[in-house]
Amino acid sequence: MVLVTGLEGRVCPGMARPYCCVARGSSPAGTGGVQVPGQAPGALPPHPARPWRCRMKLDPQLERVRLTYDGAAPTYDQSYRPGAGLKGLMWEAYQTVTWKLIRDRLPSPTAGARALDAGGGTGRWAALLAREGLRLTILDLSPGMLEQARARFADLGLAPPELVEGSITSLPFPDGAFDFVLCEGDPVSYCGPQYSQAISELVRVARPGAHLVLGLDNRVAYFVDLLRSRGLAEALDHLERGIGLCPYGMEVMTFTPRMLDRELDSAGADLLEVQGKPLLTSLLLWVDRAQAERASGDEGLRARLIAAEQALLSEGYRGLGGHLHAVARKRGPA
Ligand SMILES: C[S@@+](CC[C@H](N)C(=O)[O-])C[C@H]1O[C@@H](n2cnc3c(N)ncnc32)[C@H](O)[C@@H]1O
Repeated sequence: MVLVTGLEGRVCPGMARPYCCVARGSSPAGTGGVQVPGQAPGALPPHPARPWRCRMKLDPQLERVRLTYDGAAPTYDQSYRPGAGLKGLMWEAYQTVTWKLIRDRLPSPTAGARALDAGGGTGRWAALLAREGLRLTILDLSPGMLEQARARFADLGLAPPELVEGSITSLPFPDGAFDFVLCEGDPVSYCGPQYSQAISELVRVARPGAHLVLGLDNRVAYFVDLLRSRGLAEALDHLERGIGLCPYGMEVMTFTPRMLDRELDSAGADLLEVQGKPLLTSLLLWVDRAQAERASGDEGLRARLIAAEQALLSEGYRGLGGHLHAVARKRGPA
């Protein structure tokens, strides 16, 4: 059994899974569907500053991810936003395509349905989901990222989400608790060799018939990046091992469409689609960086590029693009 130190050094007893941290300040006790084993809902009083704060026992890979994102949290949103320059163009393409693909899969009607944003970070997608009428739970390894999410919801005047510090490899929610599960921005890739466990957990907490939307690192994109920066031999090494290095220097698991199909299937979900995203903007950057720089400063070209990205989404260019976007549906009667 794992004992986990909880709020203010408390010990959460009887934990079959290493979690304990549920923000109670944001939703009335017992309405969140989240239960700490051995304790009544609402039994843990919120910490005044960080109601979800706890110390979970993490393996070194996940501990490193947590520390890295805690460090990045205060400036994370500035680094990833549409705007001037190449990075701004990449993010605009990524965000436009991602939001279109997410919105197409929201439960209908959305009002009151429960959504989990797993590895939700600063809550950028969660806030958009909340605006569509979903009730949000945001789970993340990093309390620093969760603090940003709390502040974002407050700034936007949105109802506070339920905030949970935890790992997607061991989710503190009952089976079938959510009508929609989002795991965007590579949290599954950060789990490294534990990716299977993470996918099983995400499927477990979705209700039968619910959609799951996952954003993951694309094995082919890492191959292209390494080909350009380190040469063919190293790119092939990577392809064989399936491990890449993220921009923060941490190892990440990269995926292929068939691998996702297999993993989701054995977890009890059907893979409905896989898209590469963004497609044209990534290709432009790989093929001709100078042209990409020029396009980033030309409003007309930018707009045409983003429109072309959207138009190609239904054409089924699986496996190309900087990242993979996978949509699955949990099996079972809806
Ligand atoms: C690139 S950020 C993406 C954040 C957000 N989903 C977005 O798209 O803006 C990756 C996030 O995943 C979180 N993360 C990584 N591994 C995780 C895990 N095992 N469990 C929960 N969160 C994790 C990190 O702490 C970080 O906030």
